Amino acid sequence: MTVTKSTAPGKIILFGEHAVVYGRPAVAAPVTQVRAQATVADAGEAGVRLVAPDIGRDYLLSDAGANDPFARSVRVLMDEAGLSELPDLRITIRSTIPIASGLGSGAAMAAAVIRALALHLGLKHLATDERVSDLTYQVERLLHGTPSGIDNTVVAHEKPVYFVRQEPQNRIETLTAAKPLRLLVGDTGVASGTKIVVGDVRRQWQEDPERFERIFDGCGRIASLARRAIKRGAVRELGQLMSENQAFLREMTVSSAELERLVAVAMSSGALGAKLSGAGRGGNMIALVTESTEQDIHQALLLAGATGVFRSILS
Ligand code: PMV
Repeated sequence: MTVTKSTAPGKIILFGEHAVVYGRPAVAAPVTQVRAQATVADAGEAGVRLVAPDIGRDYLLSDAGANDPFARSVRVLMDEAGLSELPDLRITIRSTIPIASGLGSGAAMAAAVIRALALHLGLKHLATDERVSDLTYQVERLLHGTPSGIDNTVVAHEKPVYFVRQEPQNRIETLTAAKPLRLLVGDTGVASGTKIVVGDVRRQWQEDPERFERIFDGCGRIASLARRAIKRGAVRELGQLMSENQAFLREMTVSSAELERLVAVAMSSGALGAKLSGAGRGGNMIALVTESTEQDIHQALLLAGATGVFRSILS
């Protein structure tokens, strides 16, 4: 029996979430401490079985609805390869990425499934980072409505990126930090649906386009300054930019009491900067720390109610 495995990491958005949907630049990075893993195996029974043990699901592809993201990951690959049928398979997805928490779990699961299946079927040309990213984007459209494309880009390429959504092709620049950045990722424990929050920002933008365009411009300016600061190793400046970005996110109404509490505690415990990451209204926040402050800030976040804290080094 042939078995093919593939994994994809979680991601954090360092700068520019939401504004990135409206064509402003953003910076995001993979978090390899949490991952999705897909396993594709030849099956002894007829059909394609989809198994997600973490959520207790086990069903046939032929029974899955059009809006099922797992099935959709399989179907976009079939469409791209021009396949109307698959051999008998068992596809299993597992993930340690918390769902609905701004860490890109949906994109990572789709990318892992698409890559594992492409490799299993011998479709190497569909297993490249670019193709996996494009196909994951198609799955993301089902989940998000209007995804910017940043999540699929980061999880497929597994590199920090400076990203601009644009036609005919997104601008994707991989970044290398001159000095490693030490980040703590703190979970509010509050689930938040990206599609709802993104839709809510859109409504507010439609009601007051001038104000929201100004906010998005501010976020975009911060992201491009951050790109240079990362390359120069200007860590203090990056902290400052994170806090400025958080102020704009607050204005967009995508922060929350829980996020604000964790951000405030991180700052009063010595973080260089802190902000929410991802869609907001729950999910995760990130704090820029140093070797000497990390321990205290980690403890303080847990005491302030974070349901989980982990470290991510960006280099
Ligand atoms: O919450 P997440 O991890 O799905 O991130 C969403 C990021 C947004 O900028 C809010 C939306 C997008 O498509 O870029």
